[in-house]
Amino acid sequence: MLQDSFNRKFNYLRLSVTEVCNFKCNYCLPDGYKCETRPTTLALAQTHTLLRAFAMVGTKKVRLTGGEPTLRKELPDIVALCNDTPGIESVALTSNGYRLAQKLPRLVDAGLTALNLSADSLSPYTFSQITGNNSLDEVLRCIDLAFELGLKKVKLNAVLLKQYNGTQLTQFLNFIKDKPVTFRFIELMRTLDNAAYFNAQHVSGQSIRTTLEKSGWQMQPKGPDAGPAVEFCHPDYAGQVGLIMPYSKDFCASCNRLRVSADGKLHLCLFGDANDDLTPWLDDGDVTGLATYLSNRVLTKWQGHQLHLGKSGLTRHLAMLGG
Ligand code: 5AD
Ligand code: SF4
Repeated sequence: MLQDSFNRKFNYLRLSVTEVCNFKCNYCLPDGYKCETRPTTLALAQTHTLLRAFAMVGTKKVRLTGGEPTLRKELPDIVALCNDTPGIESVALTSNGYRLAQKLPRLVDAGLTALNLSADSLSPYTFSQITGNNSLDEVLRCIDLAFELGLKKVKLNAVLLKQYNGTQLTQFLNFIKDKPVTFRFIELMRTLDNAAYFNAQHVSGQSIRTTLEKSGWQMQPKGPDAGPAVEFCHPDYAGQVGLIMPYSKDFCASCNRLRVSADGKLHLCLFGDANDDLTPWLDDGDVTGLATYLSNRVLTKWQGHQLHLGKSGLTRHLAMLGG
């Protein structure tokens, strides 16, 4: 089992399968994805080695992220690889939902078990202002489809943005009155590229927390495998609320995840300043060598990010690493 020097255990891998994205979320890629050089992605054989090595050191859950992971044509094969790797029990996907409805049945067939969709607003106008796309109805259709296809875990992500969705909490909450989905409000994180935007749009999740608690939402005790999100439920609502507050004290204490970028670099932290190239092991198919390396390398993981000091590490935007 991967464990760091602060006794945190890591059984969750976030694997980016492409850094390319078809959206222009104004907090992430406001001018869209710019292709400077041909994007590199891991071949399926490399991905297989990576997954087996992570599984060997206790990874139980893999989340496929991007960029936009559905742009990777081998995505169903990658889901199947995860699903076929002994030890990996859950295969999740984070997507912006664009044209996902056509692809979802094949992904579920391949073994997908959970889906997170971005829904930064439930107002079509605000949604398109934030993302540069008019596809809110597609996202909403995917939620119902995901349940029809038998997925048990469906979550929606909204990044909190003062001048866009900052006044839309009631609309978000009304939506989950009858729908058993978790709406997760993510505090905007400062990256190297979005500093001015961050200063204008950042809202603390604490203000949402206060509003929720005043209206009867109750914080849930954290399960043993829970990550940094704080979850709330309410007897009158089928859905739940999650708050992701990276600027709050102790956020990093429950970190349970490691990240690998689409080109095979290990990131011990979303905002760290190291990215180790794993391709030497991946090229050699060296599962045990990589597993040993991971076990040692994780011991150097920092106690926490330094976002509150204005340090975003190497992270230009989250399309590099999938959040
Ligand atoms: N701050 C917070 N969340 C972000 N995401 C992308 N960029 C940022 C940022 N700077 C979100 C996406 C998606 C999730 C993977 O990360 O909207 O929901
Ligand atoms: Fe694309 Fe996600 Fe970034 Fe939006 S937040 S531009 S969907 S990578």
